Amino acid sequence: MLMDGERAGAYVQEDRYPLPLAPAMPDVWKLWQRAKSLEWDPQTDIPWEELRPERYTPEQILAARMYWSRRTWGEYGAISESPALLLRFCLENRHPDLRFFFTMRTMEEGRHAEASWLMAERLGGYFPQPQNPPTAGAVGTHGVRRMAFDPETALEGIFASLVCAAEEILIDVFKATVDRATNPAVRRLMELILRDEVRHIAFGWRCLDAWAPSFTAEIVRSIESAVSTMIENVEFRGYRNLWLAIEGGSATPEEIEADRISCEAGLGGSTPEDEMQVFPAFVQKIRARMQPWGVTIPMFAHPRLGKI
Ligand SMILES: [Fe+2]
Ligand SMILES: [Fe+2]
Repeated sequence: MLMDGERAGAYVQEDRYPLPLAPAMPDVWKLWQRAKSLEWDPQTDIPWEELRPERYTPEQILAARMYWSRRTWGEYGAISESPALLLRFCLENRHPDLRFFFTMRTMEEGRHAEASWLMAERLGGYFPQPQNPPTAGAVGTHGVRRMAFDPETALEGIFASLVCAAEEILIDVFKATVDRATNPAVRRLMELILRDEVRHIAFGWRCLDAWAPSFTAEIVRSIESAVSTMIENVEFRGYRNLWLAIEGGSATPEEIEADRISCEAGLGGSTPEDEMQVFPAFVQKIRARMQPWGVTIPMFAHPRLGKI
């Protein structure tokens, strides 16, 4: 058995040289090149003057502030997850393309957090925490992110759950609802976040597709367990949308209804009808997409979504 010190020592020791930096994964290198040319600034690239919050009812404004505050907390989580993964790419001496791309991905998550926070602020005020602090258990953080620092969890498992599953559902919902964001400032912000996130997801799938031929049984199990954890312990606990939470927890009715009311006002968010349609399709999609790697994503039971 390893002593704590031995394990930590074995894990943090970096074998940096030789340090080849030429592209090894052309698809990923292209994403890095593209990311560098698609800069935007939340302060100046959103038509903030068209937000005009005075046109909405107090109920709609409260819902939208809650929705954008929760988005901020989620994006903030990515600010810490991203460098954790970058550190692993460096320590495990992964291809240079991965290390380059993730420097930009980290910056982009910071940009999304700033943009979502600004939106909440300019709608009337950002909420720095859930209404009832215990709701933080569902929305404040999630265990999958911690896996980035766990040497026992294969990097491939973290990729499949954090990059492919968690970012994919976020984008599927954005794509399904962006047309209903009638407010021009909200619409533009969603389009810009979407543009970045599409690259993040492409990165995850391209890496896993490239590595799949060498997956061991242990890696396959790690992917299966990390993806199931993401769906059951994160999505079904209401991390992204409290309406999906199997147990209501301490969320207030205003928090649970926020996404729907904000969406119907054209201020971003999703309705239960959207989730009923998008979520099952998302699970079927990733199950089929991972199956050729030998990965079996089980069926999940949810009181509102049914067996998916
Ligand atoms: Fe993001
Ligand atoms: Fe992302």
